[in-house]
Amino acid sequence: QSTAAVPKLPHTLSHLPPPSLSPSLPGPPTLPLLGNMLDLTRDHLPIHLTTLARRYGNIYRLYCGSTTMVILNSSEVIREALVKKWSDFAGRPPSYTGGKVSGGGWSISLGDYSKGWKAHRRIVHSALHRCTADSLHSVIEKQALHLKQVLLDYRERPVDLSEDFTVAASNVITTLAFGKSYEKSSAELQNLHGCLNEIVSLWGSPWISVLDSFPLLRRLPNPPFSRLMKEVARRDELIRDHLDEVKKGGGKEGGTLTASLLQHLEETSEETAQKITLTDTQMHMTTVDLLIGGTETTAAWLSWTVAFLLHRPEVQTAVYEELFSVLKGQYPQYSDRHRLPYLCALINEMLRLRPVAPLAVPHKAKRNSSIAGYFIPENTVVIPNLFGAHHDPEVWTDPYSFRPERFLEGGGGSLRALMPFGGGARLCLGETIAKVELFLFTAYLLRDFQFLPESPEELPDLRGVATVVLKTKPYRVIVRPRAQ
Ligand code: HEM
Repeated sequence: QSTAAVPKLPHTLSHLPPPSLSPSLPGPPTLPLLGNMLDLTRDHLPIHLTTLARRYGNIYRLYCGSTTMVILNSSEVIREALVKKWSDFAGRPPSYTGGKVSGGGWSISLGDYSKGWKAHRRIVHSALHRCTADSLHSVIEKQALHLKQVLLDYRERPVDLSEDFTVAASNVITTLAFGKSYEKSSAELQNLHGCLNEIVSLWGSPWISVLDSFPLLRRLPNPPFSRLMKEVARRDELIRDHLDEVKKGGGKEGGTLTASLLQHLEETSEETAQKITLTDTQMHMTTVDLLIGGTETTAAWLSWTVAFLLHRPEVQTAVYEELFSVLKGQYPQYSDRHRLPYLCALINEMLRLRPVAPLAVPHKAKRNSSIAGYFIPENTVVIPNLFGAHHDPEVWTDPYSFRPERFLEGGGGSLRALMPFGGGARLCLGETIAKVELFLFTAYLLRDFQFLPESPEELPDLRGVATVVLKTKPYRVIVRPRAQ
């Protein structure tokens, strides 16, 4: 961690305006009042920001209203900010809309870095560790086998699997959180996912993010924003019902995250030796964090994997043959991953090509600092463009092509440059859960089924749709059981 070469204002000069961004930092031309607003509302923002990086370099600036943003587009600069100088860049920018969806900034994902936030994240991290240590494998295995039955029941009819993937991923999280899983048709699940999905897609829309930079617009009617608020209210009611149910049972079922949090509501902070207490709002927002963070991401990743495999059937065959020759028909354990290098290479290549959180979550400079030698003042918004870093031609040979082999020895893939879960103080809280899920779901699916396009001409679009999560466009697939 370093804050070298960063000017600090003496107290006597604190009435001066705050220092501004290094003027030599490159960036596209700005429009009066709008700044670079037009760049930020482009279709498929990760691709657009990556195109700008080829012109302006791996670090450049954009302005939007009164907000200054620095976009980081290579793993080297992202690592410098998020890992090496983690305490300088661990903040989250306050935002009007973020405050509205995070119960006033009390979620882990949108809360700013502070002593209280750190304690909240640490308590949840250790509760997650406790509740997954023994059961994670069996929770995912159960969902993978349930998904198998659902796919068998389709009897090779062309189907869109996105909802089944969402249900499987969501059931892993709800089992860990409340000890409950749901059928796809259950009204409770439809309700929960209906509103979480809406929140994720509405919140990423330019009609809503514009409210963060242009406060005057908040006075005008904004139907997408009104819808967002309605969905947030619906989400809160559903989560409250779940938490009340667990509390009524005294949190005694044990083994679940919520029960663990209820039993350990108070922890002693190592630094201050003081008791740290989680409030009801923090408990509530933790559940939202895990459901939103852990459902659409994993589900979108599975949809991307099937979409790419439809384009490249020989990769499916290679994974199937590896699974069969190593495990002789058995299902794998996560500990078998070292014996399945091609399957792991496929997982890494999908995380590289389609990082499902392509722009991570915006960071904020907590103090004056620097990145790549450029001065970055306190409160600057920093966007890690993970999609751009994963397509950096300086690091990846032929970065746009799908080549799992690049992660096999000597294949030109660098695991160090792969950062799909971000890094440092804000590293994805569910990274461990996600890695076990991606491995087991993919292994089970490819052991049991062959995925075929509806017709040779109808292959899925591989560009996708980018909101907060990078998703596939809807497509249909034929799922053929493998003869075992
Ligand atoms: C944050 C990626 C699955 C919970 C993040 C971030 C990324 C990410 C890039 C932002 C890091 C940053 O701000 O620098 C992914 C990917 C996943 C995945 C690629 C799966 C393929 C999960 C799962 C959970 C989860 C399964 C929960 C069980 C969270 C939370 C945060 C987060 C709570 C906020 C962390 C913070 O602000 O401190 N994730 N994630 N994610 N993720 Fe994930």
